[in-house]
Amino acid sequence: MLLACAVLGGTASSCTGAGAGVAGTPGAAGARDPYFPKLGNGGYDVTHYDLRLTVDRSAAHLTGTATITARATQDLSAFHLDLVGLDVTGATVEGRPAAVNRAGGELVLRPATQVAGRLRKGRTFETVVRYSGAPRTLTDADGTHEGWLRTADGAVALGEPAGGPTWFPGNHHPSDKATYTVAVTVPEGLAAVSNGELVSRRTSGGAGTTTYTWHTGEPMASYLATVAIGRFRTEETRTGDGLTVFTAVDPEVAAEAEPELARIGQILAWEAERFGPYPFRSAGAIVDRPEDSEYALETQNRPYYPGPPTTGLLVHELAHQWFGDSVTPATWRDMWLNEGFATYAEWLWSEDHEDTPVRENFERAFADDANWAFPPAEPPTAADVSQPPVYGRGAMVVHRLRLAVDDDGRFFALLKGWTGAHRHGNASTADFTAYAEKATGLDLSRLWSVWLYGDERPADGTAPDLP
Ligand code: TRP
Ligand code: ZN
Repeated sequence: MLLACAVLGGTASSCTGAGAGVAGTPGAAGARDPYFPKLGNGGYDVTHYDLRLTVDRSAAHLTGTATITARATQDLSAFHLDLVGLDVTGATVEGRPAAVNRAGGELVLRPATQVAGRLRKGRTFETVVRYSGAPRTLTDADGTHEGWLRTADGAVALGEPAGGPTWFPGNHHPSDKATYTVAVTVPEGLAAVSNGELVSRRTSGGAGTTTYTWHTGEPMASYLATVAIGRFRTEETRTGDGLTVFTAVDPEVAAEAEPELARIGQILAWEAERFGPYPFRSAGAIVDRPEDSEYALETQNRPYYPGPPTTGLLVHELAHQWFGDSVTPATWRDMWLNEGFATYAEWLWSEDHEDTPVRENFERAFADDANWAFPPAEPPTAADVSQPPVYGRGAMVVHRLRLAVDDDGRFFALLKGWTGAHRHGNASTADFTAYAEKATGLDLSRLWSVWLYGDERPADGTAPDLP
């Protein structure tokens, strides 16, 4: 049977042929993000990714099978996945070979007619994509790199904001969170570390390979998914609260990193008192060498650090487990909900442990022109979502809120309420401002218009009694 469907410029037009017998329309090519319109896709929600990856000794080549379980949110005749580079060697939807088209970072799948009728709104369907190739490193607008980064002894996948599609096909927008199983087969002698918990480690003597299987049972945004391949010294410990802490450290930096990493349990307990219960089953860290990446990233369960982290950096990345990983931005515009709170966590830590009042950090940030380049809730372009106002002024917003509440018991109750209300979900700036006003019973409109949305540095900005 002939399908009267066309794929033009990466967008599948709807199937018009009566002969096709396919109900529904194609899912959108993007998730309507205001900054990254091509990221994510419409028409379905992924519930689970099962990724089977095999990596060669140089970690330059990847062979993968992605099994994606998703629920249709409309009647679908076709749908998109995001995938950058790599060759697709085959795809099935509901067990039948699917037609595959590629255009830029979009993979368009058209299910076989025999199964297309199953992709009805509300139904769950399974897609398998087989792929291979040399995963790419992307260069972001600020000159930093993400995606698949080669390291001294392997590689690491970092996905914020757009690197996920370099190593697996999926719905790569933070609004579509899912559980994951990641099984990575590496040459013997190398380790593969990912999110969640290690389910098994199996060595095949004949093949000279080891397969590490990791499972993430709590919903995860794809930009927080990682795999780190290399020589690692690994350790599994338990905190006083019974939380498993799995660390993987490059032996070259282990002696320097380990005393810092030993504080993870203490930091998490301190954060849990302020932000609410730790949201995941396990915690930890992945530590590579300083030259392996230009930045740390709050990869879920175990943040990634290029080199031994300072205590402040540990506090920042671990705070992201609440702010970003559990409560995830609805779109990339809401980035200050991640970075503002993670930065504020550093200020709070300094107040409690280093005798630096938050007010000092606030005033330093206030005096820094870089924080006034644009309002944190409205970065002018995609290149700005990781710029100073999102961090420094984002943290100033949190502090102004604390001053407005004027009672630390109630302020921390508000933070805990916020992380509880959106635990394992997504939230926007509007969700936050509405939540804060409801929780405090205060009219905070001036606080938002000055600190969150205002262009100008307020003349009276360091007066403590002003909202
Ligand atoms: N989220 C990282 C951190 O705070 C920093 C970062 C790395 C980042 N890449 C980014 C922020 C891209 C925004 C966009 O530790
Ligand atoms: Zn951060």
